[in-house]
Amino acid sequence: MMNATPNTPQDKITLPKLIARKTEKRKITCLTAADYPFARLIDEAGIDLILVGDSLAMTRLGYSTTVPVSMTEMIIHLQAVRRAVQRAFLVADMPFGSYHVGQKVAMQNAVRLVKEGGAEAIKLEGGRKRARLVQRLVEAEIPVMGHIGLTPQSVHAMGGYKVQGKTPEQAQELIDDALTLQEIGVFSIVLEGIPQELAKEITTSLRIPTIGIGAGLHCDGQILVTEDLLGLTFAKAPKFVRRYANLQEIIREALHHFSEDCREENFPSAAESYSLDSTKASAR
Ligand code: KIV
Repeated sequence: MMNATPNTPQDKITLPKLIARKTEKRKITCLTAADYPFARLIDEAGIDLILVGDSLAMTRLGYSTTVPVSMTEMIIHLQAVRRAVQRAFLVADMPFGSYHVGQKVAMQNAVRLVKEGGAEAIKLEGGRKRARLVQRLVEAEIPVMGHIGLTPQSVHAMGGYKVQGKTPEQAQELIDDALTLQEIGVFSIVLEGIPQELAKEITTSLRIPTIGIGAGLHCDGQILVTEDLLGLTFAKAPKFVRRYANLQEIIREALHHFSEDCREENFPSAAESYSLDSTKASAR
């Protein structure tokens, strides 16, 4: 039987603790969350970093890509997660469009994620082309996580979700992106959908931790989309996903039993009903 991790203020994962993991050679565990119950379970399981990722556009809101999700939608999900998380370091994705139409708007949106949503850091996609923005965010004391390789917000520009960095030229571009982001002050970089050899090279070249998703074993930490890991998604999962549970099957079975019990008058039972002679005033 697994125990929930007790949360004391000393347990709280802070930015310096996360960065120190690299030299300590202790892997960083990361998952996404989009609502209170999942965030609470993930936090209590002792996961180090929780990302309110824009993948919630697909996993929770039914959009076909991450592109349409708005700041308003992200903030509602982030606030629910914030109410649940005590221990993990909480990062929020800047959604597509929130940092692409000018630095001033981008700064305002990042501040909203921190002030209204309670994020401790923000994540945005792209390498050197984001340098000036990242610099301003860092100057404004907003910790930034980079994200390079397969960047889902660029799905239209990439022509689909394709492994990146396969040619020597592309690999060098990604190495340069990673080094620039580090120099500008990001505290960590997500490496998504790149060959494991390249992820290893980037990881060993950096002082800051890399977090891999579809980037092999050599990153300083790993992240998955929680709904993928739990079998709660409807599309075919990418190759890098390991399914640790099949919640879809469990939920379908429970729903089927409920509807069967209702139809056959097996629910509610006497014990699940109130009576006039009941002595208890409380409804619970
Ligand atoms: O939106 C997301 O879920 C991500 C991944 C890195 C997990 O950005």
